[in-house]
Amino acid sequence: MKLENAFAMDTSSIKYGPGVTREIGFDMEELGCRRVAVITDSNLKGSSPVGISLEALRQRGIDAVLYDGASVEPTDRSFKAAIEFAVKGRFDGYVAVGGGSAMDTAKAANLYATHPADFMTYVNPPVGKGVPVPGPLKPMIAVPTTAGTGSETTGVAIFDFLEMKAKTGIASRALRPVRGIIDPDNTRTLPRMVAACTGLDQLTHALEALTAIPYNRRPAPEQPKLRPAYQGSNPISHIWASRAIEMISANLVRVVEDPSDDAARGEVLLAATYAGIGFGNGGVHLAHGMSYPVSGMVQGYVPEGYPPGHPLVPHGMAVCLNAPAVFRFTAPANPAVHLYAAGLMGCDVSSAGPEEAGELLAGAVIGLMRRVGMPNGLSAVGFTPQDVDRLVEGTLPQHRVTKLSPRPAGPEELRQLFLDSMTLW
Ligand SMILES: [Fe+2]
Repeated sequence: MKLENAFAMDTSSIKYGPGVTREIGFDMEELGCRRVAVITDSNLKGSSPVGISLEALRQRGIDAVLYDGASVEPTDRSFKAAIEFAVKGRFDGYVAVGGGSAMDTAKAANLYATHPADFMTYVNPPVGKGVPVPGPLKPMIAVPTTAGTGSETTGVAIFDFLEMKAKTGIASRALRPVRGIIDPDNTRTLPRMVAACTGLDQLTHALEALTAIPYNRRPAPEQPKLRPAYQGSNPISHIWASRAIEMISANLVRVVEDPSDDAARGEVLLAATYAGIGFGNGGVHLAHGMSYPVSGMVQGYVPEGYPPGHPLVPHGMAVCLNAPAVFRFTAPANPAVHLYAAGLMGCDVSSAGPEEAGELLAGAVIGLMRRVGMPNGLSAVGFTPQDVDRLVEGTLPQHRVTKLSPRPAGPEELRQLFLDSMTLW
């Protein structure tokens, strides 16, 4: 088998600063757009980031049309509705305002309106056909209103495929927004638990990008077009992931305890983007792969601060509940990088030996989880050891990410990892 010997860094252009959403009319005009779809979800349709975006576009004479049908947990059905809107609207540009779901919906709408095809055509295998996107899309600008997904810098759109009850997605560099507008004014009203979950999601993105299998241990693609966006850890993703880990570890507790701490909130939002660049090029692995069935199989759990009657395990919570067991498991593959990560999180690793690497990093993650109010393991969100077989079954199709684990994890290893994630402290 010929191994990979190249890596690429692809990212969106980023504009950061309080109030920069007001420049979006200028930005879209510069991209040559005259008729723009503004895509958001129904919770945000009356919010100031959406209002400011629409106003800024219209002030520059751009025909801006609002679509507020993005689902908070997107499905193939909600993607298809947005695609229909996009096809009918004949837009020459897209603005997504919201969390990962609004951004992912805009990516899908843009893709199928620009390169029409049967829905399964571009969806990741094994669920879909995984056909490479044939060419560039219309320009899209992303305006994140939660700090965490990093979707503004990635070419990935995630959704639930209802028929199979499976989370899957579409991944192509062509889906990447041309610009991310990173405006700390847009995250001021984030509820405490949402801030905690999205912050831990971005922390896990960065830790997984840092610890993923190295790019040069992956098989080489048969042709350059087939080189995946998630390339494995590499010298460029290392830089972005490392800095993101430091920034989140230093600021997340401050943001959760005091949402009016503008400096800390700005750092965490910027760190989400840094982590997005890290994992958008390096990839994520087991904690993300295992999180999808956790979110998909939730029974009655409703997190504090979320509306009653809608059981859910938020994405960031689902990934971090698995993360400590995952890093204990992956540490033997590269103890040095796990120790380095623990050091970035503030642990004293000066006299630590390689055999302590997994425990130290797991301990650092648990320490932060406790300080921001996460539940104590999968059992605290309603899972029991009897659920483990189904959780494993739900993880196996996620091989696009699980194969980036630095240590191979088959059904037996995954079983143990879920059991080890039942109670964390
Ligand atoms: Fe994530």
